[in-house]
Amino acid sequence: MMDGELHVGRLRWWHLSAVAQLEREIFGPEAWSEGLLWAELAAGHDYRAVFDADRVVGYAGMALTGHEAWINNIAVDPARRRSGIAVMLMDDLIARAHLTGAKAVFLEVAVDNAPAQRLYDRYGFYGIGVRKNYYRLTGTDAAVMRMDL
Ligand SMILES: CC(C)(COP(=O)(O)OP(=O)(O)OC[C@H]1O[C@@H](n2cnc3c(N)ncnc32)[C@H](O)[C@@H]1OP(=O)(O)O)[C@@H](O)C(=O)NCCC(=O)NCCS
Repeated sequence: MMDGELHVGRLRWWHLSAVAQLEREIFGPEAWSEGLLWAELAAGHDYRAVFDADRVVGYAGMALTGHEAWINNIAVDPARRRSGIAVMLMDDLIARAHLTGAKAVFLEVAVDNAPAQRLYDRYGFYGIGVRKNYYRLTGTDAAVMRMDL
């Protein structure tokens, strides 16, 4: 794969140490550990990544239960933001949720996370509730959002 050519693919176990490093850089003390990420893959959740050649520049995970899809996390390398990588991930996950017959996609987002909320607005997500003190370390509330497929 040529350098600079982005593509979406499945996130595999051999990418997890690079992902755990991005997690620490992006989420600090709230980062998911490599062990937790391993458990996510082992649980069969659908993890996708955007690769630049073989380097992970963004990743997202989704859990499918019946007719519901839950996007668990989405993050992009801080050095590569505002170039459409999150849109590549969202398009890919939503298409995959649709293919499995899911009727709706859900996610949680911190009420003070304006960039992520703008991203979800673009896809027509709407608020259905608030989880108080969802992010333990900061005490920030999370908005629960839904998008109908
Ligand atoms: C939110 C995040 C995933 C967006 O990734 P990205 O690759 O930079 O997003 P894209 O380039 O695909 O942007 C898509 C749209 O999202 C919105 N957006 C993204 N970043 C934004 C910002 N800093 N400010 C305002 N809107 C923003 C815009 O509508 C943007 O479209 P535009 O560039 O045409 O205006 C990224 O900022 C990130 O990793 N943040 C930290 C982790 C995080 O908060 N994850 C969400 C947890 S719920």
